[in-house]
Amino acid sequence: MSYPEIRSRRLRRTPALRRLAAQTRLHVDDLVAPLFVKEGIRDPEPVVSMPGVVQHTHASLRAEVRALVDLGVPGVILFGIPERKDAEGSGADAADGVVQVAIRNLRDDVGDGLVVMADACLDEYTDHGHCGLVRDDGEIDNDATLDRYASIAVAQADAGVDVVAPSGMMDGQVGAIRRALDAAAHADTAILAYSAKYASALYGPFRDAAECAPQFGDRRGYQMQPGNAREALDETALDVGEGADMIMVKPALAYLDVIASLRSSFDLPLAAYHVSGEYAMVKAAAANGWIDGDAVALEHLLAIRRAGADFILTYFAREIAELMNA
Ligand code: PBG
Repeated sequence: MSYPEIRSRRLRRTPALRRLAAQTRLHVDDLVAPLFVKEGIRDPEPVVSMPGVVQHTHASLRAEVRALVDLGVPGVILFGIPERKDAEGSGADAADGVVQVAIRNLRDDVGDGLVVMADACLDEYTDHGHCGLVRDDGEIDNDATLDRYASIAVAQADAGVDVVAPSGMMDGQVGAIRRALDAAAHADTAILAYSAKYASALYGPFRDAAECAPQFGDRRGYQMQPGNAREALDETALDVGEGADMIMVKPALAYLDVIASLRSSFDLPLAAYHVSGEYAMVKAAAANGWIDGDAVALEHLLAIRRAGADFILTYFAREIAELMNA
């Protein structure tokens, strides 16, 4: 070796040096826990394809959220499963709909000590399982769906939600929701846009948890095709122009390039959704003893941060927060 000798390993020698030289950190503040709440059940129901995840009762949801707040997790995102589904998804914006009740309960319990977000979509509430209203010819009616999304967002805001997160990938959804919130005196309610949401096979376990698999067809007519990266920039620019406060890429690990490109092009807070299938794969391999589940989860979440995400929606939120608090 020539002088001065190149020694990359100098800063890797001790745990303290490695801590000091770390370029990316994962903190409890970076985590948002997705939670499912189901109407009309007496006990929490396990989601078989997502070990450790349950469909909550209102009571078990409140207990889970208290535990998350105690662990320092700053936010949750709620998904509701109604007792009855119909073509319009009327449970989604009912004042006494399952998510609206849950939001009110959590506001009572934790006040402003937690960011309460809610998914604003129809698929959990429609009998056909699509994210929009279905026309007679089987197509999704974009503009009629926007009125439904606007009404859902206002119902969630009336209940006290901090952030609404439209996930249906209809054109114009962010603008329609922003206008409706402002007109209903909810100018302070923020929008987390699922800006680049891909038509992914990794949502399978979520559809078990939320009981929302499409009854015909698929979501490729509205969610993005996995090979398109440049399109994510266009989609996100539209959302930002329509008033998004925060933007998101979903899923996360197979789309780290998209996260990195949005990070370099936009300055808004950037989220990534580490989705149900990503969680299920780690859990399944760990249950077989094939990988160290905690270590892989930490590495995956760190990689999502390294790609440029500011915060991560992940079913690992509680476990990781427990590890970090230990
Ligand atoms: C739609 C929605 C889905 C997810 C979040 N919001 C399902 C879908 O688009 O089919 C998936 C999240 C996950 O897989 O963890 N309301």
